[in-house]
Amino acid sequence: MKIFLDTANIEHISHGVRLGVVAGVTTNPSLVSREGNVDYRKLVQEICSIVPGPVSTEVLGQDVQTMVTEAREIAKWADNIVVKIPATLEGVEATSVLAKENIKVNLTLCFALNQALLGAAAGATFISPFVGRLDDIGEDGMKVVSDIVEYLDYYQLPTQVIAASIRHPQHCLAAARVGAHIATVPYEVLLQLIRHPLTDIGIERFRNDWKRVMAREGLL
Ligand code: G3P
Repeated sequence: MKIFLDTANIEHISHGVRLGVVAGVTTNPSLVSREGNVDYRKLVQEICSIVPGPVSTEVLGQDVQTMVTEAREIAKWADNIVVKIPATLEGVEATSVLAKENIKVNLTLCFALNQALLGAAAGATFISPFVGRLDDIGEDGMKVVSDIVEYLDYYQLPTQVIAASIRHPQHCLAAARVGAHIATVPYEVLLQLIRHPLTDIGIERFRNDWKRVMAREGLL
């Protein structure tokens, strides 16, 4: 499973890329708004220049024509741009227009298999089921991810699943277990994935034992 970062923060993205584990980025208007008063296009282009893979950016229009026009413009910003289109009826139509023009679409705000089914049929490159938000309302977000993965596998469809709205490492692991192609994770979750107290204790113990050896041999 590939790891994407779900953020518009340049520092966090640069760190993730330096780690060599971040294969793409997803942004949305809420994430961009957290970066303060920025030039949207410049910020996205900077992200695209740092990240070696797809960078998803959301349209704000709600009708088909506005979404398509926005998406065509956004698609010119960089080679690795993917346009996020919401999983509405208008979004499905826009996706099908854009897919025919080879513009990559990430069907976002997806909460059910039925929405994914139409998104894949319309030619979406990615579909993003929002796990945490489903869990928030007492539903099983990961079951939706699993159902979509199974459906795409069964019919051998090329659309890839991005498990989104990931809130903690367990979400990420569960996404890998059900075969999601990608999990897009907040920066904090990326850091949590590597942290383990036994690793820290182990390093400390090795260092102390080694210091004792050096002291015994008079090298300290
Ligand atoms: O990728 C979607 C994500 O940004 C939404 O996450 O935590 O706002 O539900 P959240």
